[in-house]
Amino acid sequence: MKNVKANSQENTAEQALSKLSLEQKIALCSGLNEWDTKAMKTKEGEVDVPSVKVADGPHGLRKTVGQGDNLGLSKSEPATCFPAESLLACSFDRDLARRMGQAIAKEALCAGVCTVLGPGVNIKRNPLCGRNFEYLSEDPYLAGRMAASYIDGVQGEGIGTSIKHFACNSQEHFRMLSDSRLDERTLREIYLSAFEYAIKQSRPATVMCAYNKVNGTYCSDNAFLLDTVLRKEWGYEGMVVSDWGAINNRVEAFKAGCDLVMPGGSAYGEDDVKSAVEAGELDEALVDRSASRVAAFALGRSKALLDNEGHRAKTPEQIAMMHEQSHAAAQEIAEGSAVLMKNNNGLLPFDDFENESVCVIGAMAQNFRYQGSGSSKINAVKVDGVLEALGNLPYEPGYNMDGKANDGLFDSAVELAGKSGNVIVFAGLPEKFEAEGIDRRTMSLPAEQNRLIERIAEVNPNVVVVLVCGCAVELPWADKVGSILWMGLSGQAGASALVRILKGEVNPSGKLAESWPIAYGDCPSSQFYLKDGRDAVYREGLYIGYRHYDKNRIPVRFPFGHGLGYTTFEYSDLVIEALGGCAYEVSVRVTNTGDRAGSEAVLLFIHAPQDGIDRPARELKGFDKVHLKAGESTVVKFATDERSFAVWKDGWKVYGGEYAFEIGSLVKSVAVEGLEYDGSAQTKAVAEVAEKPSNPYTVNSTISEVAQDVSLLKLAYRWFENKQARTNGRGSADYLAAMSALNECPLRAVQNFVGFKHHFAQAIADFGNGHYLKGLKHMFR
Ligand code: BGC
Repeated sequence: MKNVKANSQENTAEQALSKLSLEQKIALCSGLNEWDTKAMKTKEGEVDVPSVKVADGPHGLRKTVGQGDNLGLSKSEPATCFPAESLLACSFDRDLARRMGQAIAKEALCAGVCTVLGPGVNIKRNPLCGRNFEYLSEDPYLAGRMAASYIDGVQGEGIGTSIKHFACNSQEHFRMLSDSRLDERTLREIYLSAFEYAIKQSRPATVMCAYNKVNGTYCSDNAFLLDTVLRKEWGYEGMVVSDWGAINNRVEAFKAGCDLVMPGGSAYGEDDVKSAVEAGELDEALVDRSASRVAAFALGRSKALLDNEGHRAKTPEQIAMMHEQSHAAAQEIAEGSAVLMKNNNGLLPFDDFENESVCVIGAMAQNFRYQGSGSSKINAVKVDGVLEALGNLPYEPGYNMDGKANDGLFDSAVELAGKSGNVIVFAGLPEKFEAEGIDRRTMSLPAEQNRLIERIAEVNPNVVVVLVCGCAVELPWADKVGSILWMGLSGQAGASALVRILKGEVNPSGKLAESWPIAYGDCPSSQFYLKDGRDAVYREGLYIGYRHYDKNRIPVRFPFGHGLGYTTFEYSDLVIEALGGCAYEVSVRVTNTGDRAGSEAVLLFIHAPQDGIDRPARELKGFDKVHLKAGESTVVKFATDERSFAVWKDGWKVYGGEYAFEIGSLVKSVAVEGLEYDGSAQTKAVAEVAEKPSNPYTVNSTISEVAQDVSLLKLAYRWFENKQARTNGRGSADYLAAMSALNECPLRAVQNFVGFKHHFAQAIADFGNGHYLKGLKHMFR
């Protein structure tokens, strides 16, 4: 069966299942280890489901050496590190997203990995989320489209994807226990929309359910999300996999349709499932349903690997060439995504670089961050260096990467800046501020960097700040410097992309995929983000990012969609053709009126009437990227449909009224027919935060909680802490990630991560509750 010729993996999988016992079917629904699914064979040979390997994602391949882990702490094989998703989205270029997917898929094929764990499409609710660098946007329209193109790119090469983390995974704080509470309209319009589009459009091979709860139910057990919405409404037929360690209750997970538990190895909850089936509490057909999806996944993906074997890079020369091509693609993506936020008096580019007396300041130039920390961390094949790429210009670090003030470094940097014609200052976030598992506590850059930029701006009028971070930060000195170029986390070729932009060899064309507020306090969720105990209560509703700033007329540092270049574009001839109902063709002429070639992201916003149902002032409903030579012009067209105008109110509804189309500075209105708003309440207030019981302990208690009452666990905790400090350095990003996993990780997830058998998690909870005999039974039963 491994070499099935037919492409009907579902049928083959169903035949396979009929030969398996209940235990075997349940077992098939847990992975073998950290990254592989389980093979399942019968002695007679009628069943031969292969084991297949998956790996992270999303901006490169992280195939660990040996078993590895899900926190990015262990070594992985060299692979190309592409720009992080938060930068990629700023390209507004579907083609670049597709090409990034293609290149990653080629490396996956080469490594025998059948599925890449990405893209991440969680919506950026708040700038402090530690994983914002891994997510695309605050806007679901943009996130959904870019994700779909990425998926098409990967899957077109025969490799599967796992769109993640479904859903509402908006904070790292207690990510395995927190409850994301929100009203259905916000859920549908903002947090599910990107998943909906990418899943319906591009059919990712798997959907990864998130760690957190949504409205009281863990995503792994959440029948509303996994069955009602994903399967019944969106017609998704692929496999749902748990995020690593996300599984809560196996019986409920089978009912909801969470098919595969990863990582494997612990048999977590398997005998509960068997007992539930035997007691008639769980229909065996639901186990069959998940087992057949897992079998179909393994059969389908292994067949795709075989089918594509001919394209696999095998020899060292082929592999080297693949890496060269990936590097070039990574550079092009960074070049097409970097955002020129400010450029007074055409300070950039330095066309005559060699003669412009440029100096470089900032330790970030030497320690150029190009990726974030955690499960997406790539062991890059090669990394371009900024100082080398700049041709070893006069350089002063100016500050320490650890944030500690150093007057000597500061003064030398100011002195160099004072005697140079132009200064490029590198500023950004150190690694530990952008890591999976840890949210930032502040939106500021390290104070020493801010102090240095302020001072340099006093001694030199020609200051270019290159910002290196995967998320929005406060820029208190923005008005005092000449240019600001946001490089995001730009991947292993980011330094070369940056230098080409500085020298004008590339004309920057990225536009912000998230708003940059002036101060954190302006951000709509700042009053309650990370302040609701463990939970995330989405009190701001629909109004995140530009939806909030626009509606409430709050000035921002740089708005969503902002980005400059070295040429100018003019928009003209906005034409709207009504094609019936909500279908309109919107076209606009875009002309490159400058004197150099450039690319322009063209954004279509729709303004909805504000006198009916409460809704954002305008929302993105179309985008495209065009590449034009100096003087060239083209017509860009967009098509609208019902969803371009709809809101969620017990279903998608279009309310009639005057809607305006906005492209660039052009605006045109049309009267759209639709329902009349009856004025009834539109959103339910979100539920208040529930107090979390910490005692008696359960499988959802954390190690550090139970350790208070179990001395052995206290010792184990200390041993782990010491080990992390020894191997990673106390206070490092890896140390912090490992410790926050330990402090915030429920026992059930520890069982899954470590692969402990029996009822380990329950046993530890029993010990904590003082029920030692019960605990021993659970430990060994
Ligand atoms: C992350 C996922 C990742 C998985 C496997 C989890 O901790 O949330 O994004 O794909 O680990 O490494």
